[in-house]
Amino acid sequence: MSGEQRVLVWDLPTRLFHWALVVALGLSWYSAEQGLSGWDLHQWSGYAVITLILFRLLWGWFGSETARFGDFLAGPRTIARYLRDWLRDCTPSRGHNPLGGWAVVALLALVLVQAVSGLFATDDILRSGPLTGWIGSDMERTMTRLHSRTFDLLLILITLHVVAIAVYRWVRGERLLMAMISGYKRNGFAPPWIAPLYRAAVAAAVAVGVVWLLLATAP
Ligand code: HEM
Ligand code: HEM
Repeated sequence: MSGEQRVLVWDLPTRLFHWALVVALGLSWYSAEQGLSGWDLHQWSGYAVITLILFRLLWGWFGSETARFGDFLAGPRTIARYLRDWLRDCTPSRGHNPLGGWAVVALLALVLVQAVSGLFATDDILRSGPLTGWIGSDMERTMTRLHSRTFDLLLILITLHVVAIAVYRWVRGERLLMAMISGYKRNGFAPPWIAPLYRAAVAAAVAVGVVWLLLATAP
């Protein structure tokens, strides 16, 4: 197997997105723990998270083959077959596997809920999201609770995510982590179509523009 050709399965934008998301979420967590002294960092890291997720959503439509939602969102039958053969057939997937594809969507959705709820959250003293003026105080309380509860769920999902990567390594022998770092897998796959980088630059510019507009229209 190791003699097989290396194939680029994860393009640079997808890898940069992943590791930037890990850093930005880490900063959001760290700054939340710092309370008032971390407030500036909390806001900026949170805006970075929203921008990254918007970019990834666009990349899921206009990006490289393996980054596209259509490439990795499998139906129930494919998932059932994949689960049934999980131990018997250890053939690696070129991109996300049928189960992992939905885990990706769950992670993206939960991170987005976390960051967007922050825009409407408040500690009722000095820290308030920029869009609290759009909603009433009841809704503010709901969003603040959502912001707090979602974070607990997110921690659980991220832990499962990292454990799953380790299980795939030790049970099925798949080096998923190395692939998310280098971009390459070595399993004789047909190389996926890789999108030109200018597309990523356009998607990033659109994501930055949308977040900028949102903040510029804040009450
Ligand atoms: C995904 C990115 C984010 C993460 C991981 C995150 C995480 C957290 C955490 C863990 C807390 C403490 C919650 C608690 O005390 O129970 C918090 C509080 C808070 N966050 Fe975020 N946050 C994010 C994005 C944002 C954004 C974009 C804003 C708005 C600019 C924001 C505004 C707030 C506010 C106002 C509080 C205080 C709420 C309170 O005291 O209950 N957050 N955040
Ligand atoms: C803040 C914590 C994390 C979040 C929110 C997160 C989220 C994600 C997301 C959304 C993807 C899909 C990538 C894409 O298609 O764009 C992914 C994939 C991946 N992540 Fe993470 N991740 C986190 C931490 C980590 C850590 C610490 C590791 C290292 C063990 C890791 C390893 C991977 C790997 C190897 C993949 C590719 C999985 C596959 O081949 O299907 N992630 N992650």
